[in-house]
Amino acid sequence: MTLTRQEKQALVDLANTARQRAYVPYSKYPVGSSLRTKTGRIFTGVNVENAAYPQTMCAERIAIFKAVSEGETEFEIITVVTDNGGSPCGGCRQVMAEFGLDTIVILADGNGNIMHETTVTNLLPGAFTPEHLKK
Ligand code: THU
Repeated sequence: MTLTRQEKQALVDLANTARQRAYVPYSKYPVGSSLRTKTGRIFTGVNVENAAYPQTMCAERIAIFKAVSEGETEFEIITVVTDNGGSPCGGCRQVMAEFGLDTIVILADGNGNIMHETTVTNLLPGAFTPEHLKK
């Protein structure tokens, strides 16, 4: 299904609103994410940091894990909003790849401006996927 410009912007705005709830006492770098499943459901996520730094969880992964935990594993689009249009980390790219290489990924800045639109496969070429585990 093709998303309209307005639908994409609405998802970015949702992620940007969620971003206000990011728990970032250490980095002070709030990240908000939103995704729409192929069934039309919408989930958001924010980064949640921890005094034991490596226990921090990225916003995209929280959005994806919320969706998966609600029975949704196919995503049409994932947005990531940061102050400066920052790009998903390698770990998040791998988690995105688990659920589909064709998912659209939109990166936006803190004003909600869409900086980049791409796909998971473009973000992680040659990804290791569940296919590789098939005997
Ligand atoms: N972060 C995300 O939430 N997503 C990414 O893809 C990159 C990094 C978070 C983790 C940490 O809370 C902060 O941004 C700085 O690294």
